[in-house]
Amino acid sequence: MKLRAVKGMHDILPDEIGRWHRLEAAFRAMASRHGYEEVRTPVCEPTPLFVRSIGEATDVVEKEMYSFRRHDDELTLRPEGTAGAARAYLEHTVHARQAVTRWSYLGPMFRGERPARGRQRQFHQAGCEIYGDPGPVCDAEMIDMLVGFLGELGVGEIEVLVNSLGSGDTRARYRDALVTHLSPRRADLSEESQRRLDKNPLRILDSKSPRDQELCADAPTVLDVLDGDDRAHFDALRRHLDALGTPYRVDPRLVRGLDYYTRTLFELRGSGGELGAQNALGGGGRYDGMIAELGGPATPAIGFALGLERLLLAMRPELPRAAPLVVLVPLGDAGATACLVLAKELRALSIPAIVDGRGGKLKAMMARAEQRGATVAVLIGDAELERGAVAVKTMATHAQEELPRASVARVLADRLASLGWES
Ligand code: HAM
Repeated sequence: MKLRAVKGMHDILPDEIGRWHRLEAAFRAMASRHGYEEVRTPVCEPTPLFVRSIGEATDVVEKEMYSFRRHDDELTLRPEGTAGAARAYLEHTVHARQAVTRWSYLGPMFRGERPARGRQRQFHQAGCEIYGDPGPVCDAEMIDMLVGFLGELGVGEIEVLVNSLGSGDTRARYRDALVTHLSPRRADLSEESQRRLDKNPLRILDSKSPRDQELCADAPTVLDVLDGDDRAHFDALRRHLDALGTPYRVDPRLVRGLDYYTRTLFELRGSGGELGAQNALGGGGRYDGMIAELGGPATPAIGFALGLERLLLAMRPELPRAAPLVVLVPLGDAGATACLVLAKELRALSIPAIVDGRGGKLKAMMARAEQRGATVAVLIGDAELERGAVAVKTMATHAQEELPRASVARVLADRLASLGWES
């Protein structure tokens, strides 16, 4: 049997890792600028956590979870980060210590979906959650932060969709209105939507079937039934977004696939880059009921997650900026010791350095340095040692020069800094 990675789960090899590091660093910097602190929760949680928070009648819980039994526990690889973060927030009674908590996270998630471009079974999300703030000020701030972040990454055209699902009561009333509208047309709905009509009617609005979409076209929208505080909340969110100059479009049919949402809902869709049909770059919303549902005190919450694979497809292609590397080439035994010592000095100045101790002909060693992506090669043999010097070859120009051994590490650090690389 040929051993291969699991279908829909991918290796990220060293030639791609630079882009990942830059994206992750940009996310962490953005989150920290906005007062979020990083949290890391396990990739695996008790299955009932996801069933109760995400909802029994969602695609994620019904069809996509990687669940298994171990030591009498029912466990699931996390399909998203919100439920685990909420569990940790409660378990550590963070609410008792902080009125408002801002957390961010980044890591792999697992969903057994059909793999396609931009849709994996193991994928990575970067997300933020705010607990204890009912909004709508922080809702507007969060959406604006995301739009700014995508701009910073050079994600070209994006569309920001916002909607409100209202709180518990509104949602129930809307559900009834939708069922009343669709029930007489039941037989015309797709099989999946007929099933959803009983279990989770709001999801029918998300159906890809053209026939379902037609039947929903004149259905009442949630905004038709939004009233009182829910409407005031949504209106205020829009006012704040307008004041910030954040572009958005109200989409009264936006429902999203997870059941925990209340009030504010948003999704960012891209169209540029290599993004195909999987154009949802990220999304989120308010989930004011979840913490209480999980057994905690009533705590309003809002959050979002970005799909990192999709962001990488949508981002402006950048020129690969290889990290500098010094390859040290010993010519003889004494040279090998000198190379080891110099490599250590270079690393202390944060310059990546490796010693090629395999020996052989000079030509072969230089070819290996080239192949390894060296910026400079340093050669040390008996002759150089006698003169208290080392030979430095700049790979791009093939220029070779002799530098004093005593100062070579500092000289190389200065040169690499002038190439735009900071140690
Ligand atoms: P979500 O919309 O299910 O929301 O996922 C967020 C993002 O993760 C999507 O927009 C997409 O970019 C990416 N994503 C989802 N599934 C896949 C997949 N199979 N392959 C590649 N990328 C994928 C959530 O997960 C919520 N937890 C967001 C949230 C946080 N709501 C409140 N707080």
